[in-house]
Amino acid sequence: MITFASARRTPTTADVVVLAVYSDRPDSRPSDLDWASIEARGFESKPGQVQVATKQGKTLVAVVGLGEIDKVDVTAVRKAGAAIAKALKKHTTIATPLLEDLPASVDRAAAAQALAEGIVLGSYSFDLYKSEGAKPSAITRVVAVGEGRGVAAALQTGAQIAQGVNFARDLINEPGGTLTPAEMTKRVVARARQAGLKVVVHDEAAIKRLKLGGLLGVNRGSTNPPRLVQLEYRPTGRAKGTLALVGKGITFDSGGLSIKTGVGMMTMKCDMSGGAAVCAAMSVLPAIKPACRVIGFVPMTDNMLGGDATRPGDVLRIRNGKTVEVLNTDAEGRLILADALSLASEAKPDAIVDLATLTGACMVALGQSIAGVMGNNDAFSEEVCSAANRVGERMWHLPLPADYKKQLESNVADMKNIGGAYGGALSAGLFLQEFVDSTIPWVHLDIAGPAFLEAEDGEHPKGGTGFGVRTLVELARTFKPG
Ligand code: BES
Ligand code: MN
Ligand code: ZN
Repeated sequence: MITFASARRTPTTADVVVLAVYSDRPDSRPSDLDWASIEARGFESKPGQVQVATKQGKTLVAVVGLGEIDKVDVTAVRKAGAAIAKALKKHTTIATPLLEDLPASVDRAAAAQALAEGIVLGSYSFDLYKSEGAKPSAITRVVAVGEGRGVAAALQTGAQIAQGVNFARDLINEPGGTLTPAEMTKRVVARARQAGLKVVVHDEAAIKRLKLGGLLGVNRGSTNPPRLVQLEYRPTGRAKGTLALVGKGITFDSGGLSIKTGVGMMTMKCDMSGGAAVCAAMSVLPAIKPACRVIGFVPMTDNMLGGDATRPGDVLRIRNGKTVEVLNTDAEGRLILADALSLASEAKPDAIVDLATLTGACMVALGQSIAGVMGNNDAFSEEVCSAANRVGERMWHLPLPADYKKQLESNVADMKNIGGAYGGALSAGLFLQEFVDSTIPWVHLDIAGPAFLEAEDGEHPKGGTGFGVRTLVELARTFKPG
């Protein structure tokens, strides 16, 4: 755990002081440092560059690049925080006047939040299964030096949100063989109770009583029983609307009988990333205290191919009564989300957001760094995108063309679970739409790309990223029912 504080002066106990430098402002370079040597080691004041420059008494002096001064925003500050945490992880106490040196155009409290987020996110590593060579961060204390209204509180907020993101990362990185639905439930319930959320866990018998035919159908090939976790955050006083969150919780996706290739399933422990984001974001809400009520629905199962697995051609009946012909058992996420979206709709919230590592097609369209945004209400889609934009998570709109719905027609049931050869992210979104009350604004986030990375990228580590947590917290914080 890292504690954050603000102080007027640099504490004498700091192990490292980190000074911010702009690439287009030579006067931002502290003149008492040996710039020839700093530059010789490759430092160009670019965003994300950190270099130890000298030692003054017991304290090391380091520089962090922020790039061009006119381009600096909270996203750059978050990245700088992550870079500081990675480069200086061997040290204990870090002080930085970085916030003081930002241009006036950058909101001081938002920047403080981003700095703390970046440092906590950049300190993350998943070392549980490393017998040797694990190098956890030694950083325990960070001091933001300088004046600033709301800086201390914003630092705490940033740290709390980033701890939520790291909780999601731990869930995602845990292998599918150990993070069964029961184990994921256990971890989520412990954190949710600790945070003060209301928790309801539905086991297999309850899932049968609730007639969640999609979840039961996907679970049929597994020896691990399914779960559905329901979480609730209630503000003190009268709630300003209700936001429902739904997350895909496939703890491992083998594809089922429509089995994936060996390479295709190598990263499929990540297929519960949407569910992890929902649980993690909700666990942060009691500390952030948004004014709206938030309810979460996370269906959990693995997608396996045991002797009684759902066969291609089988028909499932979803919670809302609609029937689905399963022609590809690898299109399983939409089946469990269909049940959860039906339940969420029954709760009559003012808006619904679902997050899912739903389609490889979305990764083909938008790559590894950008999530797809689909929905039934342009204003609400824009609200979600702008929340994402404020917290530095990248998302882009995709359409849900009504005429593409005919791709989902089935010969035997109300619909089939796959579309045509092209536009797979859209047919998946159109499928989900069938299970959402059309009077409720709804957004579907396909996070297949950004949920899990092969190589680190700024504040995102290799493996599970916890993508979506920051956006959900920001959305709850600013949510106003239409
Ligand atoms: N979990 C996968 C999608 C996925 C792929 C997530 C790669 C992250 C990385 C999902 O269940 C899936 O298998 N989707 C299929 C749908 C198809 C069968 C219609 C896909 O995208 O191939
Ligand atoms: Mn699949
Ligand atoms: Zn899947």
